[in-house]
Amino acid sequence: MTVTVREAGPADAETLSEIGGVTYRASFADGMTEAQVADVLARKFSPEAYRAALAGNVLLLVEVDGVPAGLCQIGPVRIAVKGPQPGPRDRSVDTLYVLPDFQRRGLGRHLMTAALAHPSLQDAPALWLDVWEENDRAVALYESLGFERVGTTEFIADGVVVGEDLVMRRERQLSLP
Ligand SMILES: CC(C)(COP(=O)(O)OP(=O)(O)OC[C@H]1O[C@@H](n2cnc3c(N)ncnc32)[C@H](O)[C@@H]1OP(=O)(O)O)[C@@H](O)C(=O)NCCC(=O)NCCS
Repeated sequence: MTVTVREAGPADAETLSEIGGVTYRASFADGMTEAQVADVLARKFSPEAYRAALAGNVLLLVEVDGVPAGLCQIGPVRIAVKGPQPGPRDRSVDTLYVLPDFQRRGLGRHLMTAALAHPSLQDAPALWLDVWEENDRAVALYESLGFERVGTTEFIADGVVVGEDLVMRRERQLSLP
């Protein structure tokens, strides 16, 4: 099995949408209404949303033997944090998604490690992300890579506050494990 990580471009918008949509639905749709799921998929995971995101963010794709299996987004911090506030040069490493069929093979850790080493993050004083607080496996992965719980943020879908996410931060001076 050959695992590679590459930067996605506009030609990958449909692939990113497929990975984002399938993984989101499989992981988080339980307990949400179809309207809420549809709103999140349209705003964050449609091909149009990814084409727009590619203008100001880096999208990394992990591939297994050439088959796209996961994605991760790097860019400015857009989290409305309840807690300490991100600085202007801080960045976020967000939406680490591995397709269900490819999970538990080390791809999530591999992709996150590649993201943390990306040149666009090397001058950022701190890295931020948000994650559903009950997502134990993701929180454990982020903690093992040096992220700490520093606050919360509202999770809004279809105009309704659906729940609260955990906000985690990683200081730059940490070296990779
Ligand atoms: C979270 C996610 C990215 C992890 O990716 P993955 O490829 O399955 O994870 P890996 O195989 O690289 O494992 C990384 C770590 O995750 C944890 N983990 C993964 N699957 C787990 C499971 N089923 N149970 C418990 N821990 C698990 C382990 O701590 C593991 O640590 P290790 O490397 O020391 O063994 C993936 O499960 C996913 O996409 N989930 C749905 C979307 C999501 O929750 N994204 C993150 C929040 S935005």
